[in-house]
Amino acid sequence: MAKYSFSPTGEKFLLPAKNDYIKEFERLKKLVKNQRAMGREIVVVMGLGFVGAVMAAVVADAEDKKRTPTKFVIGMQRPSTRSYWKTPLLNRGIPPVSSEDPEVAPMMHRCVNEKKTLIATYTYDALKLADVVVVDVQCDYLKESLGNVRDGRADMEALEESLEIIATHINPEALVLIETTVAPGTTEQVAYPIMKKMFRKRGIQSDPLLAHSFERVMPGKNYVSSIRDFWRVCSGVNEEATRRVVKFLKEVINTKKYPLTVLDKPIESETAKIVENSFRATILAFLDEWSLFAERNGVDLTKVIQAIKVRPTHSNIIFPGPGIGGYCLPKDGGLGLWAYRHIHGWEDDIFKITPMSIDINDTRSLHVAQLTRDAMRNMGRPLALAEILVLGASYREDVGDTRYSGSELIVRRLTEMGAELRVHDPYVSHWWEFEKQDEYPASSQSLKRFFRGQEKLKDLRIEQELKKALEGTDAVIFAVRHKHYLNLDPDEVVKNVGGPIAVIDCFGILDDDRIRRYFELGCEVKGLGRGHVKRIKDQVRDKKRTED
Ligand SMILES: NC(=O)c1ccc[n+]([C@@H]2O[C@H](COP(=O)([O-])OP(=O)(O)OC[C@H]3O[C@@H](n4cnc5c(N)ncnc54)[C@H](O)[C@@H]3O)[C@@H](O)[C@H]2O)c1
Repeated sequence: MAKYSFSPTGEKFLLPAKNDYIKEFERLKKLVKNQRAMGREIVVVMGLGFVGAVMAAVVADAEDKKRTPTKFVIGMQRPSTRSYWKTPLLNRGIPPVSSEDPEVAPMMHRCVNEKKTLIATYTYDALKLADVVVVDVQCDYLKESLGNVRDGRADMEALEESLEIIATHINPEALVLIETTVAPGTTEQVAYPIMKKMFRKRGIQSDPLLAHSFERVMPGKNYVSSIRDFWRVCSGVNEEATRRVVKFLKEVINTKKYPLTVLDKPIESETAKIVENSFRATILAFLDEWSLFAERNGVDLTKVIQAIKVRPTHSNIIFPGPGIGGYCLPKDGGLGLWAYRHIHGWEDDIFKITPMSIDINDTRSLHVAQLTRDAMRNMGRPLALAEILVLGASYREDVGDTRYSGSELIVRRLTEMGAELRVHDPYVSHWWEFEKQDEYPASSQSLKRFFRGQEKLKDLRIEQELKKALEGTDAVIFAVRHKHYLNLDPDEVVKNVGGPIAVIDCFGILDDDRIRRYFELGCEVKGLGRGHVKRIKDQVRDKKRTED
């Protein structure tokens, strides 16, 4: 039976049939022959996800001093019903990932349609033609319970499978560069043995040329820059692999301005990525307890943080929003813990801070549901059947990336408590974590499994029009610092709603004047880390009393 893959906009693509593979490989061979004649290296990027698709374009856009392209890139995406659509889209020059960076779409169009240095394919045979293979497939960490990262495991399946496929097909002289964030030790103790065994099976006596260099890509308006114009760390399994990875990165990344750090062994590069993200997760998590301290003792944590930031040594202190989210921070520390036991074989438990930080970050947003409940209670409104509007679905400001966002948990918990949820986000058109909650991010991996009464959330649709979203709501939760929410006028908001509401500020979005105005308009205000709102409320009440 014919199988189809649907793009996010609903376009339907027929999956390739057996015969198509032969024709496709012939097409690639011809193209590669011409490209080699032009002196270009052939680079296969495996996995056209958030990272791979843009990395493929960055490599395809690379030029030498004479401004001649130096690489021909074949983006390789497995033809599953879920992901095949990425291949035909990229072949038209359309990015298979949505991005707020205005550089992504023109760069992809330029490389595919003008420079003709980038194509996409579904056949693993492409690997036979590669001088360099860049691995950008996912390596997830699957958590079995909410708020307990220890109860989980690394999901290495896609990565292990990819490495075996690569070793089955490649020329033994090809460099294999793993960019995936992996459990430290993976390159030497998982990838290298898989590849070496396959090489021996093929009668190849040389050793695989393997290296690791992690991505520091940041979703948002500087997406391309965060790949191309940013510092890199790398390491190879042996001298030749190290020499090759340094050469490759120098040719495709702006290492002149952003020098490369070469470490002795891949486990050091892998650990650098995990420690870097665990550090970030920790400095966010430790503020959770101070956030509660602030709420209970009349302190505005946002002002405290601003006061501390003035000191240059403490300038990277950051206010934690409702949970941390994103693809990397919630999982990377888990990969470290898992590696310690399952790759390196240690039995003891040395980790305290890293897992605790992840657990705190993973559950911080549940407190927002408590604040909403209390604000509604103060207004004499029951939470059950109340209409609650969440402003912002993504995990950080001014991006459309909803992976593991705090907002998801806010919606899930409040739904469990009986409220009716609506959501507005100018950057997100479909919130797949809800619309496709039975299969996204993977079957049985939805966060819905930690809550009751979640079935109806399949019907949750993002409201793009703020005015419409506000109409008749009982509460508004400011969940993300999107620029659209920073200057909303309380009078306008209350007018659009049609009466006073409960306002919950999760991200230090409201200044004191706005908080005061909401109180004057009969609203109730609460906020994460914003203990001073009670003081403003009392001032407004006292003023009203003297006026009366
Ligand atoms: N997204 C980010 O913001 C970010 C930032 C820094 C680092 N990273 C790391 O980069 C890596 C990739 O992340 P991502 O966000 O691009 O993931 P992703 O899930 O968006 O993309 C992975 C892609 O690989 C494909 N794939 C899986 N197995 C394959 C196979 N055998 N052959 C071909 N394709 C295959 C998948 O279909 C998917 O398209 C992860 O390790 C992640 O931690 C991501």
